[in-house]
Amino acid sequence: MTGTLGLVPTMGALHAGHASLVTRAHAECRHVGVSIFVNPSQFGPGEDYRKYPRSAEKDLAMLERLGADLVWIPRPESMYPPCYQTWVTVEDVAAPLEGSCRPGHFRGVATVVAKLFNCFRPDKAYFGQKDAQQVAVLRRMAHDLNFPVELVVCPTVREPDGLAMSSRNAYLNPEERKAAVVLFRSLSAAKERYDQGERSAEALREIMRSLLRAEPLANPEYVSAADPESLRELNTVGNSVLLSMAVRIGKARLIDNILI
Ligand code: PAJ
Repeated sequence: MTGTLGLVPTMGALHAGHASLVTRAHAECRHVGVSIFVNPSQFGPGEDYRKYPRSAEKDLAMLERLGADLVWIPRPESMYPPCYQTWVTVEDVAAPLEGSCRPGHFRGVATVVAKLFNCFRPDKAYFGQKDAQQVAVLRRMAHDLNFPVELVVCPTVREPDGLAMSSRNAYLNPEERKAAVVLFRSLSAAKERYDQGERSAEALREIMRSLLRAEPLANPEYVSAADPESLRELNTVGNSVLLSMAVRIGKARLIDNILI
């Protein structure tokens, strides 16, 4: 194969957020590869691995329309045969936020993405800002392990009311779906305060918490105003801050963020 290869790793149940990555890869690369793999090693015990939505036929039709050249749907037993015993662990940047709520999650993500990088050998790999900590972890991994790949981060694609598109939105009933807009509303309210001059990170976190408290269906797991690279919580906000949160609504665990 000659010319650049762009890789879009996914877990399937594709939506417009995934499509935006494929479209961007198509615009920037000669060839586009997509992987669809619900990666068991990034789900904790009791998480939604078994119930995670799967729609391979629909996904393949969408990818064909978008102009993907190659789609790989590996079997779990070929990615992780019984003798499998090698793992990629990223340390500090994987520890807080998602890492502390979902122990082992980023070990699974970093391992499978390292394997995908080795299988595809892409020039560029496309990821969504929706999963901001995943991007920070994978940047660290690619740099630390000398993967010759450029990571491209694409903006979060949202529903008209602001809810970030996610395969897990399918778990929401109509009432929960309405309540789910509270994530983007509270992130936006904090951003507005920042734009008006607020530089106390705790004040920004408190604005988000207070809006979440006002939504009875929302159960927050964390609310954060952190340094976008290290993901350490800030006291005082400088020029950049990652506002992020994880919130349970019904059966769904939703995450969202705004990068300032
Ligand atoms: P998945 O959740 O399927 O997401 C695949 C890619 O699509 C990720 O880079 C994610 O950030 C991006 N994405 C999801 N929703 C988006 C949205 N609303 N707007 C923009 N991009 C969005 O993330 C994973 O799979 C897995 O952890 C994976 C990297 C494939 C490793 O298993």
